[in-house]
Amino acid sequence: MVMTATDIASEFPKTKRDGSKGHVLIVDDEANARNALAELMDDAGYSVSTAADGRTALLQMEHVDPDVVLTDLKMPGMDGLALIEHGRPMSSHTSFIVMTAFATIDTAVQAIKLGAESYLTKPLELDAVIAIVDRALERTRLSREAAQLRQRVDDRFQFGNILGEHPSMQRLMKNVAQVARSRATVLIHGETGTGKELIAAAIHQNSSRKDKPFIRLNCASLSETLLESELFGHERGSFTGAMARREGRFKQADGGTLFLDEVSEIPMSVQIKLLRFLQEREFERVGGNETLKVNVRVVAATNRELTQRVEDGRFREDLFYRLKVVQLDVPPLRVRRSDIPLLASSFLRKYAAENERSVPALDEQALQHLMIYPWPGNVRELENAIERAVVMCEGDVIERDDLPTSAHGDLQNGSVMALIPGITMCELERVAILRTLDAVDGSTARAAEILGISQRKIQYRVKEWGYQSAIVD
Ligand SMILES: Nc1ncnc2c1ncn2[C@@H]1O[C@H](COP(=O)(O)OP(=O)(O)OP(=O)(O)O)[C@@H](O)[C@H]1O
Ligand SMILES: [Mg+2]
Repeated sequence: MVMTATDIASEFPKTKRDGSKGHVLIVDDEANARNALAELMDDAGYSVSTAADGRTALLQMEHVDPDVVLTDLKMPGMDGLALIEHGRPMSSHTSFIVMTAFATIDTAVQAIKLGAESYLTKPLELDAVIAIVDRALERTRLSREAAQLRQRVDDRFQFGNILGEHPSMQRLMKNVAQVARSRATVLIHGETGTGKELIAAAIHQNSSRKDKPFIRLNCASLSETLLESELFGHERGSFTGAMARREGRFKQADGGTLFLDEVSEIPMSVQIKLLRFLQEREFERVGGNETLKVNVRVVAATNRELTQRVEDGRFREDLFYRLKVVQLDVPPLRVRRSDIPLLASSFLRKYAAENERSVPALDEQALQHLMIYPWPGNVRELENAIERAVVMCEGDVIERDDLPTSAHGDLQNGSVMALIPGITMCELERVAILRTLDAVDGSTARAAEILGISQRKIQYRVKEWGYQSAIVD
């Protein structure tokens, strides 16, 4: 019997969803071969769809998300190799298996390089096909499960994309969630690279303003005149170069959140205007008389001690208090080292994906090094180090040598002895107190017991260093 194209189409509907062993997409330009295989696979308990060339297969993949793609190599239009190349990035869970009548090792190797799982030679033997497809399905199932597990772990410790299990971070997240709901002005304080901007964004995202603009301005990057006009806008001709009226960031942020980064760098003249806004919720454009009112929540960040700036007379005290209606301290990475593996593995996955390679593992020495390195640049430095290691590492394992070295040399086995001679008593005290606090999850009572000093002394010192966030009780 000769079958027409329509017969074939009705005989083999494109998607057979029977809740079967798994979904297989068969790609072959030869209709007879394609349909015969589809029928056999269907009988064997798989759900099946078919396509006559690579391009059609790609279109189908968008709809059916197959577990396994069985593809011929030579096809008019888009061939099997091109299908693998384009299809692979679409779904990390789909396995590609190549079927080829030209059992040349070359093309098979090329297919494997492009990400095919294995290959079959034509003519096909049904048992071999089923064995290979089942193996691929098992692998797919495992990888899906692992992804789900990872997702669950991520959900547990994540607030948006902020990672941190350490008690100091968990407490910070709780505070973030609480302040997000209010309109209170927030001052985020923390060393460079600790994640201040992420936290500012999280506050906005978790507030009722989330569908309105989140506007960011780095106060350190502009001259006095430009900063004032950037914040409040200006009238035409208000200063040289002001060719037309321009609205400022406050206006742009109306209804939303304005994030003032490096707020310590705002010059005194602009501080007054900012104070007025925080008190009266109104301002004028530079060179203008019209008073504008906007509904903007201000979140500011600083990596400096603003109290010091106030004492030095470089920052208005009244503004300081207006800004820190709520103050959030972001702990430096070295007082929450237990978060390092979590962060490192998340960055490993991120940069492996970005560089389209498999996720490398960290060997024992590399992980140990990450744990004891002082991280003066905090999470940003860790992220950069991992990115570099992912790009540079040759095999599938990142070793100690792929990572940056410490200014102090290596702290072998995490021993502070390696720092002596070379550090002061003061620094030694600091290392002792902070590392002990870290080990007891920030409990000053337990740290005091271990260190043989009073709880008050620990509290006093930690406050002096501006590390209140290392304390949890
Ligand atoms: N807890 C975290 N979880 C995941 N990524 C983080 C975390 N903290 C920081 N990062 C990442 O580290 C980098 C630096 O963070 P961010 O820019 O928020 O720091 P910052 O405190 O604003 O630094 P700076 O003071 O230098 O402006 C970003 O790429 C950010 O995504
Ligand atoms: Mg920042």
